[in-house]
Amino acid sequence: MDNNNVQRDGFSSKLGIIAAAAGSAIGLGNIWKFPYITGIYGGAAFILVYLVCIALIGLPVMLSEFTIGRRAQANAVGSFKKLAPGTPWFLTGWMGFVAAFSILSFYGVVAGWTLDYVVKAITGAYVGLEPDAIGGLFGALISSPVATVGWQLVFMAVTAGVVMGGVKDGIEKYSKILMPLLLVIILILDIRAVTLPGAGEGVNFLFKPDFSALNAEAVLVALGHAFFSLSLGMGTMITYGSYIGKKENLGETALQVTIADTLIALAAGLAIFPAVFAFGVEPAAGPGLVFITLPNVFNQMAGGMIWGILFFSLLAIAALTSAISILEVVVAYLSEETSMSRHKATLVSAVAITFVGVLAGLSYTSVLGGVTIPLPGFGSLVVFDWLDALSANYLLPLGGLFISLFVGWKMVRKDVEAEVSNDGTVKIGWIGMFLILAKVVAPIAIAIVFLNGVGIIKL
Ligand code: PFF
Repeated sequence: MDNNNVQRDGFSSKLGIIAAAAGSAIGLGNIWKFPYITGIYGGAAFILVYLVCIALIGLPVMLSEFTIGRRAQANAVGSFKKLAPGTPWFLTGWMGFVAAFSILSFYGVVAGWTLDYVVKAITGAYVGLEPDAIGGLFGALISSPVATVGWQLVFMAVTAGVVMGGVKDGIEKYSKILMPLLLVIILILDIRAVTLPGAGEGVNFLFKPDFSALNAEAVLVALGHAFFSLSLGMGTMITYGSYIGKKENLGETALQVTIADTLIALAAGLAIFPAVFAFGVEPAAGPGLVFITLPNVFNQMAGGMIWGILFFSLLAIAALTSAISILEVVVAYLSEETSMSRHKATLVSAVAITFVGVLAGLSYTSVLGGVTIPLPGFGSLVVFDWLDALSANYLLPLGGLFISLFVGWKMVRKDVEAEVSNDGTVKIGWIGMFLILAKVVAPIAIAIVFLNGVGIIKL
């Protein structure tokens, strides 16, 4: 299995692996999406369900993905072909390919918004404005086809540039420095947010559960977001797992990445919700939440301009380290399974994804604002929302289901143990627990939440 290890590009150090995997996990999902869906689905009760999904499903699926990728030393589709030749399991990799495509299409749009906000912060566009006017700025941005698509193209070009550079000198190098910096900035924002007058209501919203707000859709969204936030269910962590050295401890890595991702999401919530209540922003404001609330906070801080510039720049960078991991799924497949060079594979996939992405980018403008597509369980949605809901609520949970079944039932137990224990050199007292989660708990839980959420069964 290790014989082609030599030619494969890979991560060069333990810190590099954590930074790259955490760089993939930590992104717009934590800072943009987690707060706004928490706002829509009612706060603390939603967060509790999310945390249960992370612990019982997310963590074992992440370890499963690492195990598959490092064992097979291949991309998401190739890994299944190698470990289960002649079976339809490779279709799981293909589904991940489709998910990567749909996620990056709308992800690039939001990342583009963050770039626009870097400029807004530098030029002082929101300085001194009332909360309502700050909301208006966001509305003006997303309804402008030129601004939205223009920034999206800039972002996609940078993403493609980094991926072309390869694993060690592209992805790893940037993630290592910038992720820790992001954490520091968010913690500073937390301190300012919780000391705002009227912050208490926001803190309660985050930590005092009201279970009456929960419904089947909320539980499905919490599960889907656990996958989205941890970059699971579409082969990203299979691909990254294939770059992890044979001496690294996979269980420990999965745990560290999961904890880092969860802490950043909670810290982002804590920076945003006190401000939501202090400035009278609607908690269920949707995708604009972070862009509407935080400028109000910056306006209330000494040196607010600097904080704004730093925050939005780091958010753009967090988006970048995630976007490259999504593009890498497609590029690794094309460059390993077809005759395309890495260079060409990156170009082809970035152009194709950006093409669909522009349709997502125009979703809130007059150009495509009226065009909606139905999605079972979610009504009829504009392209942006449709791609988001399709990937998070359908493709990723189903991908996660097959991945955990694969490790739990298809792979030989001896091989799984050899991989996670580095051929017996690492203690894995938790292996029995892991296998129960991967074999039984995660698949059943995903199946129930999924079937219930899309309305096929009614609990
Ligand atoms: N985990 C990223 C975030 O939270 O922003 C998004 C993402 C990256 C999803 C990679 C899926 C993926 F494969």
